[in-house]
Amino acid sequence: MEFSIKSTSPDKHKTACAVAGVYQQRKLTPAARALDQAAGGVLSKLLRRGDCDGKAGSTLLVQAPAGLHCERILLVGLGKENEVADKDYRDAVRAAVKAVSGTGASEASSYLAEVKVGQRGLDWKIEQAVMAAGETLYRFDELKSEKDDAKPALRKVTLMVTAGETRTAEAASARSQAIVKAMNLAKDLGNLPGNICTPTYLADQARAVAKASGLKIQVLEQKDIEKLGMGSFLSVAKGSEQPPKFIVMQYHGGAKGAKPVVLVGKGITFDSGGISLKPGAEMDEMKYDMCGAASVLGSMQALAELGLALNVVGLIPTCENLPSGRANKPGDIVTSMSGQTIEVLNTDAEGRLILCDALTYAERFDPVAVVDVATLTGACVIALGHVVSGLLANDDALARELLQAGEASGDRCWQLPLLDDYQEQLKSNFADMANIGGRPAGTITASAFLSRFAKKYKWAHLDIAGTAWKSGKGKGGTGRPVPLLVHFLAGRSQGS
Ligand code: BES
Ligand code: MN
Ligand code: ZN
Repeated sequence: MEFSIKSTSPDKHKTACAVAGVYQQRKLTPAARALDQAAGGVLSKLLRRGDCDGKAGSTLLVQAPAGLHCERILLVGLGKENEVADKDYRDAVRAAVKAVSGTGASEASSYLAEVKVGQRGLDWKIEQAVMAAGETLYRFDELKSEKDDAKPALRKVTLMVTAGETRTAEAASARSQAIVKAMNLAKDLGNLPGNICTPTYLADQARAVAKASGLKIQVLEQKDIEKLGMGSFLSVAKGSEQPPKFIVMQYHGGAKGAKPVVLVGKGITFDSGGISLKPGAEMDEMKYDMCGAASVLGSMQALAELGLALNVVGLIPTCENLPSGRANKPGDIVTSMSGQTIEVLNTDAEGRLILCDALTYAERFDPVAVVDVATLTGACVIALGHVVSGLLANDDALARELLQAGEASGDRCWQLPLLDDYQEQLKSNFADMANIGGRPAGTITASAFLSRFAKKYKWAHLDIAGTAWKSGKGKGGTGRPVPLLVHFLAGRSQGS
């Protein structure tokens, strides 16, 4: 999909489909009114006849309006004027993309950026439009011999703005296109099954992204990981025939010697639970247990594409969690790279076991901040559902930054309290700590565990167990939290 920005007036602009808004009570937006006037009042006539009531997300297609340079007009309902909320706008844009895709038009021009959406600026409206288009047009049919419905014909969208807005709109459009590309990469990797998307496959993909984007990359193999003393990570990997990989990617866009932000992504390419085997129902969804890794990989690609002015390191520990004669057993005690010992009371709490060694490895970059991203706990899905990601941090300013990046991108997170009191639940009789803290506050005790390995820097943890993919009929990766991460990094980019 290709996007461009233009500021021609509606009555003069040539397009296969002009998309404009209508409010409830059948009131046209300024662009729709201009189209209506140029077309001899065809739109107001239809509205009077009751063909479109302006409810958010409703659409009305008008073919071949006379007196205009466009072949079609698509009217999109926005809800009540001056009360258009974030969701109304997103619904409207999504409905518009769907409706245009249903016509034969390969190109369309949208005037929806003129709509007032609360306090949201133009950049937000452009970005939401590009992301909604990306979401609506995404397909994953690589592995089907017959492709889903025919690929949508829509290939080019022009976002119409006023003359003074083109620069802001162009920047927002570029940023959101990079985000959509990165989300699609993250979705693809998540949707791929565990027998294809193995740790080796992930490492190969990371190499390909690094090559195309000019990133530095190093893939540490089993023996390198052993040398580093990552006994906790390796204990999870050893139940599987697939060799583990530890991927290190580096982007240098900032000043030489400027401390980097380090992103860490959980890369369990399949989580069976190990010896503490998961129940069979929906176990297939544990192929998504590498979505943290995929979002880090996508974000690295996006930030290189945007040329953001900062230094960023991406770390991805990746392996499978399977039961076997060599697998971790409940009660086993392992020694992490930090030297701290861990009693593995449940082999299904494996995410923290691979992340803790990555967090220790992060120390060598002397980071300004570390953010890890992980499908870490089922408890997070219970606490927050599929709406917001869980956020825990040892630094309030960093937490605030991530909350704001979530608000700005529409990819929101919500903070949970990382209080010392929770550490008690991790007590072990035989090692420095246990890898589980019991049923209460499972998301918090998981991050309490991680916090013991993140003492040397400012650190935040995003639990994306509820947000990284959708279950049920529309099962599939969401590409979250790529928008949040890219906004966070863009906010740290010098000169932005
Ligand atoms: N990958 C899972 C977390 C998960 C479960 C994400 C369901 C999304 C949906 C993680 O490795 C896990 O199994 N966590 C356990 C921890 C428990 C044993 C303390 C969990 O949440 O049940
Ligand atoms: Mn698990
Ligand atoms: Zn897991």
